[in-house]
Amino acid sequence: MRKRVVAGNWKMNTNIEEGLLLVKEIDHLVKDLSQETGVIIAPPFTHLATISSLLKSENSRILLAAQNCADHQSGAYTGEVSPNTLAEIGCKYVIIGHSERREYYSETNDLLLRKIELVLKANMSPIYCIGERLEERESNRHFDVVSSQIKEVLYNLSEEELEKVIIAYEPVWAIGTGKTASSDQAEEMHEFIRGIVADKFPSCADNISILYGGSCKPSNAQELFARKNVDGGLIGGASLSAVDFVAIIKSF
Ligand code: PGA
Repeated sequence: MRKRVVAGNWKMNTNIEEGLLLVKEIDHLVKDLSQETGVIIAPPFTHLATISSLLKSENSRILLAAQNCADHQSGAYTGEVSPNTLAEIGCKYVIIGHSERREYYSETNDLLLRKIELVLKANMSPIYCIGERLEERESNRHFDVVSSQIKEVLYNLSEEELEKVIIAYEPVWAIGTGKTASSDQAEEMHEFIRGIVADKFPSCADNISILYGGSCKPSNAQELFARKNVDGGLIGGASLSAVDFVAIIKSF
């Protein structure tokens, strides 16, 4: 059985005080929900240690993710954050290859593979983001783009490693634009992604969670999550409101 997951990507939003408030609100609202859906939040680096202590003291079911990490464990890499340190402060996941990282910080598939390998070595799970840009969809190259993002990165992992990966399909044209992929478009791509994973890892494909991301909100989550190959969501804007985020979690 594959796991249902809803993950909130806060990006570079909230100060620490606002972040703590948001976590408390979410924690309160998810306490009585069924445990079937995994709840993950990815606050900025600066908030992680404080939020981690809060989650521990509240015995919360919310799991913590970082939004990025270094492609080295330690050393002379000024300004970078080691995956080992993230694991040490309680992160269970790291978002890898978000389109904003690929686009604004020129992160390549090679670099992302190195990060994923280190995240796995540190006993965390990568949430690996893939997705096409608008011009790629309009020129009918979206399947090729997504296929290379999988083959150039995930095909280099062992089966045991792949089992720990969550994939997030986020069409770039839907991120932060208010323009969501239709549930047909999402299902079509998620089914395709599962097929590409199956070509190399036939025994894992059915169990890997594939999340949809891109303007997912309470009003469209139910329709998206109802599709066979959509196992949850990676939520940006709507994860900054506890009420909206929890409404999305309840959409299964
Ligand atoms: P959005 O962002 O929900 O604000 O579109 C999703 C993401 O970037 O992960």
